[in-house]
Amino acid sequence: MRHLLGTEGIDPADAVAILDTAAGLKQSLEGREVRKLPTLRGRTVITMFYENSTRTRVSFEIAGKWMSADVVNVSSSGSSVSKGESLRDTALTLAAAGADCVVVRHPASGAAHRLAGWLKDVGTSVVNAGDGMHEHPTQALLDAATLRERLAGGDATGQDLRDRRIAIVGDVLHSRVARSNVHLLTALGAHVTLVAPPTLLPTGVGAWPVTVSHDLDAELPSQDAVMLLRVQAERMHGGFFPSAREYSIAYGLNERRLGLLPEHAVVLHPGPMLRGMEIASSVADSPRAAITEQVRNGVHVRMAVLYHLLAHEEENA
Ligand code: NCD
Repeated sequence: MRHLLGTEGIDPADAVAILDTAAGLKQSLEGREVRKLPTLRGRTVITMFYENSTRTRVSFEIAGKWMSADVVNVSSSGSSVSKGESLRDTALTLAAAGADCVVVRHPASGAAHRLAGWLKDVGTSVVNAGDGMHEHPTQALLDAATLRERLAGGDATGQDLRDRRIAIVGDVLHSRVARSNVHLLTALGAHVTLVAPPTLLPTGVGAWPVTVSHDLDAELPSQDAVMLLRVQAERMHGGFFPSAREYSIAYGLNERRLGLLPEHAVVLHPGPMLRGMEIASSVADSPRAAITEQVRNGVHVRMAVLYHLLAHEEENA
């Protein structure tokens, strides 16, 4: 694997390999005082964030550092991007400066693919950390890691998600998290139900390998997990629903709805959460929610991705 640009068309064996590596890394680092492996010593990872981020940027940085890579963070406001430099020139500059891997988040769908094309002859790997409304593959991988762990009751290694039922709820239209999860979870054999108002579903959703519903209460009793999505106000121009209150009444996961889920079901949210909108505060803080576990697994999953892109290739060679 040279790049990780998306989960659409991902080979399930590749996904499972990353998830198993992440589970192994987690196991071997847990309880250690010094969480540092020498695996990527001498390698340089540059994160390039053209959109705001807390979890993704920080966990890529920590992942690189725990693997002993040199990690450099570039943001659009503090770099020559704010002087008008193009994405292509910035990418070629970072590659020339010695990047073995560029982790990119960009508001334009397809930006990571373009970058991979420009860096084709340079040997730099590209990881998509979220491109517009398109894909966010490491988020889907960390969600799958969390589901494997929670639904298997501990050791996630070798667990698959075959026949598990997962509802993805809310602003599917604007969500790269939803798209990447649909591709990955279905590739791993899970059954995905999208629950959203018609205005927040993409027009082509009929062709996706999912079930579509507008009735959250009806879907909850049969799910093994429910994933709430943030309403992406920054990508909305116009009214997609009458009011935040009405959205919350129809699609928010509150205490009553938590009671409709089976006992074992897991609640996920990629963050940042809008408490009181898509998720009630008491639900977000309940032991049924795996939200901080998702963040923790995000570090191990990103370590695994960097390992498969940078270290593994060398070993194979
Ligand atoms: C998501 C994103 O940026 O796509 N956040 C994340 O990476 N954890 C979801 C969101 O912003 O709502």
